[in-house]
Amino acid sequence: MPPEHILSASALTRDDIEEVLSAAEAIAAAPAAHQDRLAHRLLGLLFFEPSTRTRMSFAAAMQRLGGGVIDMGSVDTSSVQKGESLADTVRVIEGYADAIVLRHPSEGAAQVASEFVDIPVINAGDGAGQHPTQTLLDLYTIEEAVGLEDIAVGIVGDLKYGRTVHSLAAALSRFDVDQHLIAPPSLQLPDHVRYDLDSAGVQVHEHTDIEACLEELDVLYMTRIQRERFPDEAEYRAVAGAYRVSAADLTGAREHLAVLHPLPRVDEIAADVDATPHAWYFRQSANGIAVRMALLEQVLGGSR
Ligand code: NCD
Repeated sequence: MPPEHILSASALTRDDIEEVLSAAEAIAAAPAAHQDRLAHRLLGLLFFEPSTRTRMSFAAAMQRLGGGVIDMGSVDTSSVQKGESLADTVRVIEGYADAIVLRHPSEGAAQVASEFVDIPVINAGDGAGQHPTQTLLDLYTIEEAVGLEDIAVGIVGDLKYGRTVHSLAAALSRFDVDQHLIAPPSLQLPDHVRYDLDSAGVQVHEHTDIEACLEELDVLYMTRIQRERFPDEAEYRAVAGAYRVSAADLTGAREHLAVLHPLPRVDEIAADVDATPHAWYFRQSANGIAVRMALLEQVLGGSR
């Protein structure tokens, strides 16, 4: 059997998504029942870009399943500095670990890596491409907060470079969800992502202001402007700080509105939102453990 990679949210069907969400729910309800599921298995973490949540939650998830983690550490202290190719690095790690979690600045890197190894490769973010495991924990959180049926989701900020956005928009297209895309003209969704939404028959509404649709929303998904992806700092400065929400801005919102953010936030969500019932983003990041446990069990097999 070929290994089961997790490369893109666009490849996930509604059944695939629902399977992961219900497995994660079962794990969250009875984590002790899973504490040995991946005993003696090893996960290789290869992060060629900064990460706090994704790297640490994959490590925590693996250890909570009884498995171990080996981490390449920062690019500065690895052989990448000596000019090693990604293909060689993953082939070496294949000799050490049972699955690879890869974050890389190049779009398509996880796909390429998967072609060189016979162990599962999990895409933990490929440039401005995709971030499928983030999306699954986003969906898990949306399900928990407001349900995934017949809802309106506003996605705000850097729709052009935001990989969490590309994955989320694709996955939401599998559900009965109205998508409100809120961005400055220069940061609209890339054409190929938009094309996929149109082909899936998704109701897409575009705005440049949050206020234009806030009252209709069940979920407000804020994102960071991806400074590191801008070819030109002046272009970044022109849009930096474009969207901020404070507790006062949310007074007209639905009572049950859930504010999500993949984090890290820069200035998109004021600290005074944290104390409101709208704040779901820390819960969202904590949900990464159950969801990544479910994914690891899925790709590494529950039994030895
Ligand atoms: C995101 C990422 O790396 O794409 N972070 C994360 O994994 N939670 C979002 C971001 O960096 O803005």
